[in-house]
Amino acid sequence: MPTFPRVASLKTFDEFQSRLRELGLQLPADEDVTTGTASPLSRAAKVGELTIGNRFCILPMEGWDGTTDGKPTDLTRRRWRHFGISGAKLMWGGEAVAVRHDGRANPNQLCLTENNLSEIGELRDLLIQSHADRFGNTDDLVVGLQLTHSGRFARPNQKTKAEPRAAQRNPALDPRLDINDDSGVISDDELKTLIDDFVVAARRSAKLGFQFVDIKHCHGYLGHELLSGVDRPGEFGGSFENRTRFLREIVAGIRAEAPELELGVRLSIFDFLPYRKSDSGVGEPDPAGDPRLVFGSNSRGDAVVLDEPIQFLSLMQSLGMKLICTTAGSPYYTPHLQRPAFFPPSDGYDPPEDPLIGVDRQIEATAELKKRFPEMFVVGSGYTYLQDWLPNVAQAVVQDGLADSIGLGRMVLSYPDLPADVLEGNQLARKKVCRTFSDCTTAPRKGIISGCYPLDPFYKNLPERKELLELKKQG
Ligand SMILES: Cc1cc2nc3c(=O)[nH]c(=O)nc-3n(C[C@H](O)[C@H](O)[C@H](O)COP(=O)(O)O)c2cc1C
Ligand code: SF4
Repeated sequence: MPTFPRVASLKTFDEFQSRLRELGLQLPADEDVTTGTASPLSRAAKVGELTIGNRFCILPMEGWDGTTDGKPTDLTRRRWRHFGISGAKLMWGGEAVAVRHDGRANPNQLCLTENNLSEIGELRDLLIQSHADRFGNTDDLVVGLQLTHSGRFARPNQKTKAEPRAAQRNPALDPRLDINDDSGVISDDELKTLIDDFVVAARRSAKLGFQFVDIKHCHGYLGHELLSGVDRPGEFGGSFENRTRFLREIVAGIRAEAPELELGVRLSIFDFLPYRKSDSGVGEPDPAGDPRLVFGSNSRGDAVVLDEPIQFLSLMQSLGMKLICTTAGSPYYTPHLQRPAFFPPSDGYDPPEDPLIGVDRQIEATAELKKRFPEMFVVGSGYTYLQDWLPNVAQAVVQDGLADSIGLGRMVLSYPDLPADVLEGNQLARKKVCRTFSDCTTAPRKGIISGCYPLDPFYKNLPERKELLELKKQG
């Protein structure tokens, strides 16, 4: 059990501020959260032809709850309906949707095949309808779709069977996925076909009415891993130009086939060496890790260096891409970077640092990119661990121009309409505030659908909750 004070125990603004000072963090925070039209969080923004009605964004979150042929279920529909009633005016992708079967991260991930078009389109319609029912206007609601291939972390057929299509070999990660030879590495020819599959998926997304697609480059999945493919031979590895060919060719294809779409990237803007659980249970860098294979870090793989991420954003800008959603690391091997939490998921480790440091790291790195690329619309992530202080930090971040929009992940699983409550000036419902118990990550790691089992009454009452508790007891 970590020895850091829990955020929930920092009851006053002064206590919160003094903890930040103790940690030496410059995290901005406003004591008073403004509401209504005076709030910086309620300001609309223009991105090309799109109007985004406020500064809250719902981050993509999958539920491991689709059908095996990649269609949504009632649970998926419930999640998207909740996104619609959140009050946020930007939907960054809904959830990861595979562009083809072998790229699914689990056998229940959505897949954008021709057969699944109407059901996936219906998700968007449900979200828009639920937003209209609660807030009236949807002209300023922007909904995108996240397109993915899971690469190294693909498990398309069985939850327990990794079928990796990695960008390159990796001495720390290969043994975790039983990769023993190059057959787990995706070939250049496969990548070329995959580029076409992304373009087809983008065309389908446009047909369904999504206003943008996210060409996912984060969390250790294929797009992200290609960025650090310095050892990969051939056209997609080695030089920065080769490592970004995948993005460039997908963008060129989409521009030709679906020019009406805005394009964005969700990018892990930094990463560290893969972590593992030490004997004490606390996370530590895996000694087998190779820092050369880490995108956005220093030569030891233990600190943020944004040189290549900056080059990547310059490239995006030169390709006319205006939307970027920043995130970090990977939920598989650096979860403390990606989703700072007090309680680790079952396959994780106790946090090696106060999770507030993790929140601050993402905000600071995002701010650096926003400063360098003021014309881009920058969405940040990783705010949920701030818990009751999230609105205070969110307002200051937007007011100070450190990011354009505050992305919310876990918080809206437990508290779907937090953005509406903040903007309307309602008192926060403390009982619904995510306390980062990580059950929404542990459940799928144990083969169970994801959801907020501790705090969402709907998941609390499902039989899966008992199953999860039993499995957690077994370790
Ligand atoms: C249950 C769950 C599912 C997620 N699914 C996705 C996903 O499909 N695509 C993605 O880019 N990130 C996914 N994420 C990461 C979140 O979008 C977000 O980056 C992360 O939770 C940190 O933000 P937070 O602190 O607000 O939770 C998922 C996170 C959780 C907890
Ligand atoms: S299970 Fe609920 S409380 Fe726990 S991290 Fe997920 S959303 Fe937060």
